[in-house]
Amino acid sequence: MSVSASSITVDDKRVELPVKSGTIGPSVLDIGKLHGQTGIFTFDPGFTSTASCESAITYIDGDEGVLLYRGYPIEQLAEQGDFLETAYLMLFGELPTPAQKADFDYRVTRHTMVHDQMNRFFQGFRRDAHPMAIMVACVGALSAFYHDSTDISDENQRMVASLRMIAKMPTLAAMAYKYSIGQPFVYPKNDLDYTSNFLRMCFAVPCEDFQVNPIYARALDKIFILHADHEQNASTSTVRLAGSSGANPFACIAAGIACLWGPAHGGANEAALKMLMEIGTPDNVAKYVAKAKDKNDPFRLMGFGHRVYKNYDPRARIMQKTTHEVLKELNIKDDLLEVAVQLEKIALEDEYFIEKKLYPNIDFYSGITLKALGFPTSMFTVLFALARTTGWIAQWAEMIQDPAQKIGRPRQLYVGPEQRDYVNIAQRG
Ligand code: CMC
Repeated sequence: MSVSASSITVDDKRVELPVKSGTIGPSVLDIGKLHGQTGIFTFDPGFTSTASCESAITYIDGDEGVLLYRGYPIEQLAEQGDFLETAYLMLFGELPTPAQKADFDYRVTRHTMVHDQMNRFFQGFRRDAHPMAIMVACVGALSAFYHDSTDISDENQRMVASLRMIAKMPTLAAMAYKYSIGQPFVYPKNDLDYTSNFLRMCFAVPCEDFQVNPIYARALDKIFILHADHEQNASTSTVRLAGSSGANPFACIAAGIACLWGPAHGGANEAALKMLMEIGTPDNVAKYVAKAKDKNDPFRLMGFGHRVYKNYDPRARIMQKTTHEVLKELNIKDDLLEVAVQLEKIALEDEYFIEKKLYPNIDFYSGITLKALGFPTSMFTVLFALARTTGWIAQWAEMIQDPAQKIGRPRQLYVGPEQRDYVNIAQRG
């Protein structure tokens, strides 16, 4: 698509709106001078037509169902690479050579332990606390433990903070899980790969040997790759906005985790599995599809629809395949998979979903796989946060280095009362 130079006239004042073009995807109108020259703002709640930054990390073509990390198709990365390779790609922009990969894996691995004082921090939570609540608190608290990597003007400290975040998320996530089931924390074991290490920290107990099932590890690693980044979604924009004030990276990622928790975003994987359990059997599917279409019913099909994808979410396609593979290889028969397959089939043939371009998103199938791997639903969004941390930290680092970066400060359309005088309480009523 090409857009020629554009202008807008407001009260006889003509303002040029330069067109900026990226490498692929829609061009943008640069409206940065609009308010200064005309006094008006643009209005776009939910940012449906607004690009908030330049970024070279992730590209999505929602109409075609394409997702690229640094130019590489998600299908190729998920099928052929591993999660730490994707993390390297996110941070440095290129796939690593074997030596770079070995060095990166080594550096991440050396940061997997958390400060021992963190163990005490956990004791303050109720055992039934949602693990996302624990993650928001503990990740924010990292800035109280690692003072030597909070100076964002120091490139070296930024890198150490990035490695720490990627390395410590699995440890904290596993601790949140262990705490909730009353089992002792399991320390990281650094001769294991990233995802196997995480599985061991979640499922090993000190009184028995534990062997990580490589099928589980590969499936989870793939799930991590699929969730690693998704350009300027709500949580990533939250991380950037928090970081735009100069806040330290641990605080910014904690803000991202809080945003991810909502059911319209990362919380949808938990909500989708709960929905499948509520539907229960394939013959109930039609009733729930009717509920989702009913304007007077707030119910939505969780795991369906996406702001950007108006086609099948490419991650959902890989996820669906992985779910079938995992259940087959582990010889698990899960009735929920039948419900999901039936729900997808009916919804994809339904005029309402076709017209609104509502397709399954990544959260539709991921819950079934995570359940098969042994995770409770409350951990699903935690796993999303663990993987998305690589994207968040890469986007944060990109923002800090962007010469055009300034504090994010949206404006508003004020619709409250006009100026009025204070009335003393005795005269009110
Ligand atoms: N079930 C039924 N109807 C839906 C659904 C759904 N899942 N999603 C959207 N619609 C309808 C909606 O009612 C609206 O209809 P109308 O135009 O008649 O008012 C229309 O489709 C457009 O919906 P919208 O809410 O204006 O679209 P949005 O771009 O603001 O929202 C969404 C995108 C993902 C929040 C939404 O589709 C949704 O709530 N889906 C369910 C939650 C979910 O699966 N979220 C995970 C997203 S992918 C992972 C991630 O990003 O974290």
